[in-house]
Amino acid sequence: MAHQTPRTFFKIGSILLSAAALFGAGTYLLLDWIARLSFAAFLLLLVSSLLFITSCYLLLALVLCCRGVRKWGGVEGAFSFEVAKEPAFWDQKMGYLRVVEILAPLELRKWVYSICGARIGDRAVIAGKLADPDLVEIGDGTFVGEDALILGHLVEGDALYLEKVKIGKNCTIGARSTIMPGVEIDDGAIVGACSLVTKNEKIPAGTVWAGIPARDIKTGFL
Ligand SMILES: CC(C)(COP(=O)(O)OP(=O)(O)OC[C@H]1O[C@@H](n2cnc3c(N)ncnc32)[C@H](O)[C@@H]1OP(=O)(O)O)[C@@H](O)C(=O)NCCC(=O)NCCS
Repeated sequence: MAHQTPRTFFKIGSILLSAAALFGAGTYLLLDWIARLSFAAFLLLLVSSLLFITSCYLLLALVLCCRGVRKWGGVEGAFSFEVAKEPAFWDQKMGYLRVVEILAPLELRKWVYSICGARIGDRAVIAGKLADPDLVEIGDGTFVGEDALILGHLVEGDALYLEKVKIGKNCTIGARSTIMPGVEIDDGAIVGACSLVTKNEKIPAGTVWAGIPARDIKTGFL
């Protein structure tokens, strides 16, 4: 521990005393001001302060849960899965993600997914859901349509697969379509509405894929 002289203690003591005096004076002035308010104004002040404090807490909880998803996410591979004893990192990530989904309004989705670990380019629009934001990469100007679902995980029997999904620039992911793990969609490709892009599929640049399972509907490429 550094050598503490009486002079240092005096300095710290005077700073603490000044802070306490300022706090005391501030509190007195505030209470004095509140005492002069009418009952209606007091009620308004009380309700707005409560709303403000609650919103701050919710925002803080949202940011902390996003950071929780990021901390426990990013893992790829195949794992044995049992609902009763899921892998611990998965359990943690999903727990945080549930809270994020409850707290985050649609308008904040892109921002929230980015804090969770998704890499989302400029001008990209996310109107769908990223089930594993920590495993998703979306390029500039890509549009993810309403209720589209991008999955970085699949549970199949007693196995849990986790793999990244990469979507390039200026792509369109149709409304209500589902993209499975390991899929790579190159720049400018379009996935039709209500389509299913199955796991590890590679969609070349500029092509149009649709259907269940999705296929290239312009060239008939299988
Ligand atoms: C896939 C899509 C781009 C194709 O549009 P298009 O190039 O004009 O093609 P067409 O409408 O001429 O259809 C070509 C063929 O694909 C089929 N098809 C089109 N969309 C399909 C879809 N979503 N699922 C399955 N088949 C589809 C058509 O039935 C047609 O089949 P046919 O040749 O046997 O008759 C368009 O239908 C689509 O789904 N767009 C998604 C838009 C979207 O959801 N945006 C985000 C939300 S706003």
